[in-house]
Amino acid sequence: MTLEPPLRRPLGVFDSGVGGLTVLQALRRHMPHRDFIYLGDTARVPYGRKPPEMVVGFANEIADFLNGMGVEGLVVACNTASAVALPSLGERSSVPVWGVIDAGVEAATRATRSGSVGVIGTKGAIGSRAYQRRLESRGIRVWARACPMLVHVVEEGLAESVEAELLVTQYLSGRPEIDTLILGCTHYPLLRRVLQRAVGEEVTLVDSAEVTAEAVRSAFEPPPRSFAQGRVVHFVTGDPAAFAHTAAVIGGVEGEIISLPVTELAAAVAGI
Ligand code: DGL
Repeated sequence: MTLEPPLRRPLGVFDSGVGGLTVLQALRRHMPHRDFIYLGDTARVPYGRKPPEMVVGFANEIADFLNGMGVEGLVVACNTASAVALPSLGERSSVPVWGVIDAGVEAATRATRSGSVGVIGTKGAIGSRAYQRRLESRGIRVWARACPMLVHVVEEGLAESVEAELLVTQYLSGRPEIDTLILGCTHYPLLRRVLQRAVGEEVTLVDSAEVTAEAVRSAFEPPPRSFAQGRVVHFVTGDPAAFAHTAAVIGGVEGEIISLPVTELAAAVAGI
């Protein structure tokens, strides 16, 4: 597949759907001169409650497609895919690969004073223990909880609602004393206000999107003194109009949206 006009040294970013746009927005704030290809696998969303081996298969296919598009680096802007697919993606990708987990763990390690950290995410991300293993290996005590309903609350545009307050209170109940909470899901930065109220001002919230963007930026040269704003092309495996509609709750889409049905994605990877 070729794009006209061609992109200049794009970075590839992918997620199961719209959630990774929070990571894309952070990347664009840090690297406004860069071109990006974003792939939202909206036909197969959510990843959070699918078996890990299935998510690994999806992620491999998408990484192969983005590598084929000539990206200079790959950002797995999905906590669930980062949690289960990173080793396999690192092996098969010809360019550097970043997930959202390591940067979040790094930031939480820096932030905690008590050595007790909480992490919330999808069933897949929490069930994989990817965050827990990394934090525990640093001697940090971890409290982790899967909060599956929160993705839906955000996508329904209810991030500031009574429903969100109730769910967050319920999910965070029974937690031990923590001083840092990792938002281990692409959608949770949208719930920042509700989460902060629930845990109290003294708890530091770690936004994986923001810290991942900082890590990726530091691997590349800084923006030149004068530059044209980078371009973004979005590929979606589901309906482009539905993607644009749901993305409105995350801040909207800037750039073209191209339909890439799963069959075409697979064909492009196979070179058919
Ligand atoms: N993007 C996913 C994550 O960060 C949340 C949505 C899903 O379950 O696919 O884990």
